[in-house]
Amino acid sequence: MKRELAGAARDLAAYLKAQDENLAEPPRGAAPARTRPPVPVAAAAAPEAANTQMTKPPADMDALAQQVSKCRKCGLGHARLNAVFGVGSPKARVVFVGEGPGFQEDHKGEPFVGRSGQLLDKILETVLGLKRSDVYIANIVKCHPMKNPETPEAHGNDRPPTPEEISACRPYLDEQLRAIRPACIVTLGSVATKVLLGVDKGISTVRGRSYDYPVELFGPGHPIKVIPTYHPAALLRNPNLKRDTWEDMKMLKSFLETGKI
Ligand code: URA
Repeated sequence: MKRELAGAARDLAAYLKAQDENLAEPPRGAAPARTRPPVPVAAAAAPEAANTQMTKPPADMDALAQQVSKCRKCGLGHARLNAVFGVGSPKARVVFVGEGPGFQEDHKGEPFVGRSGQLLDKILETVLGLKRSDVYIANIVKCHPMKNPETPEAHGNDRPPTPEEISACRPYLDEQLRAIRPACIVTLGSVATKVLLGVDKGISTVRGRSYDYPVELFGPGHPIKVIPTYHPAALLRNPNLKRDTWEDMKMLKSFLETGKI
């Protein structure tokens, strides 16, 4: 009991300290108890519920979100609390794509709501003058990849998605892109960049320029531009990467303003 109290106090102290830095992650103790229903909750409702100020998604996005909420194409569908479909404007000109949901996202059913998400919001606002409701935010995989799905409340339980999980989930992202018709995708980190550009190089080698999305979603001559940049989690670990990220975001801003890149 004493040890639990000491742990909770430590969590709270860390939380308050992070709040000071404006990058708070709620203490684990504050999260609702995880129950894993035999049939996962109607997760499509969760992103909408978390998302009341957002423009209503078009019907095909609703249908797709429903499909994702029931998906069992890979093992992640059995361990998740909520599928994390995506959030933002269905008419966004730019879609930010991360790797996959973590602990906070799994609980809330919304992408990028933990510390990385708070930093992403800050970047959107300070560099681009945008809110998360002006853009669209999604992930390569829609369910939380856990090292040990049997201990879902454990710290440090996140892992990158496997190639099988990525290929099972990949069609959902292309469907989202088809519905949104963005001018540009920003890939956040190596995993999203490798998957969407089909390259096998690290993010520091690939970033700094734009690419054409290799999947022709709207026919030849209508490519979506791809701007790869660092994952916000990498910036939290290594603030020296912020300068390059700012450059990438300035490239995006100029593209959104001028249509040229
Ligand atoms: N990291 C990601 O890649 N995606 C999220 O939604 C949260 C953290």
